[in-house]
Amino acid sequence: MSEQQTRFKQQAAEHAVTFVKSGMIVGLGAGSTAVFALRKIAQLLAEGELHDIAGIPCSTVVEQEARSLGIPLTTLNDHPSIDLTIDGADEVDPELNLIKGGGGALLREKIIAQASRREMIVVDQGKLSPRLGTQWAVPIEVLQFSWAVQSRYLESLGARVTLRESSGGTPFITDEGNFILDCAFGPISNLDELADNIIRQPGIVEHGLFLGLATDLIIASEAGIRHVQRGQAL
Ligand code: A5P
Repeated sequence: MSEQQTRFKQQAAEHAVTFVKSGMIVGLGAGSTAVFALRKIAQLLAEGELHDIAGIPCSTVVEQEARSLGIPLTTLNDHPSIDLTIDGADEVDPELNLIKGGGGALLREKIIAQASRREMIVVDQGKLSPRLGTQWAVPIEVLQFSWAVQSRYLESLGARVTLRESSGGTPFITDEGNFILDCAFGPISNLDELADNIIRQPGIVEHGLFLGLATDLIIASEAGIRHVQRGQAL
């Protein structure tokens, strides 16, 4: 990742934090962009600029990071409705549909997105894409029990499928104990139909197509920060 890209990620994430208000339940997204939001929230809490925040983390890694930064946490079971979630994305189309799950946290991220009144996605401009699937494979979380069956099914839908591995060469295991299949479909023209077909198969737990879930997009680039809301032209 270039220094410039890191700077854009930080700028986008910190801009999103200006929408966090005292008293809110905040969804804490995963990934290298969302972590900048986490750090900014912690800083504002320490300075007394924010108070009475409770965060709901999208992964165990985020949970550990939030705890180490002193951000108070709660659970979806105690607070089933989230005021604002700040999260990253791997690819974003002009309708604010997303591919997510590059970090493997797509299941909790999607549950949290659906529970959020506002789902604010923070990206550097390199994530923008005319059509999802152009730049990224779609991560799909599957049961370990039958991953090869799911792999064949996803190939039948047109994907080139790769079982995600950890750095040690063993299969990557999600927070829920599942595997991830990275499915390269190429540019996807029929998002809803593909999403319906993917989720129809038993053993497929969730997919990384986030359709109609983002309410806000914060993009950082050389031109500065842009805030686009769902329904506005990108
Ligand atoms: C985590 O599972 C992902 O959905 C991330 O939000 C996504 O991969 C973006 O990550 P970066 O902010 O690290 O680019």
